[in-house]
Amino acid sequence: MRVAIGCDHTGVDLKHEVVKYLKEQGVEVTDFGTEGADSVDYPDYARKVAEAVRGGAAERGVLICGTGIGMSISANKVPGVRAALCHDVYSARLTREHNDANVLTMGARVIGSGLALEIVKAFFGAEFAGGRHTRRVEKIAQIEKDWAGGGR
Ligand code: RB5
Repeated sequence: MRVAIGCDHTGVDLKHEVVKYLKEQGVEVTDFGTEGADSVDYPDYARKVAEAVRGGAAERGVLICGTGIGMSISANKVPGVRAALCHDVYSARLTREHNDANVLTMGARVIGSGLALEIVKAFFGAEFAGGRHTRRVEKIAQIEKDWAGGGR
């Protein structure tokens, strides 16, 4: 499993904890930054990680900002990316099983690192369930196709 990870200035410490955890699980992690406390713009990092997932350099992505919301909104602009903001373990499991989410976003100002690591564990421990969910995920892709180039 190859994972792309990124954060803004609010998520650096949590990102390091997530990277450490993933590496301990044998995951190959590419860290797109940021590092340090200087204020940066979350869409820049969401884009790097989302494009790595879209392009196939990584199977999954993890993005961390203050709330996780900006990262989620930004990453979901890249076609083929299904980014899910999760602040509980149940949602982290279900978004893999039902939505086939390929990017996890979290808010470092919302949850502590203990819960965040449990969320990461649930997200990476679950598989897409297929079945009726396949049709629904295909419908998400159809929305992207219908709006490609500005819509009809
Ligand atoms: C940065 O202040 C903050 O806006 C950002 O980390 C994130 O929460 C945006 O959604």
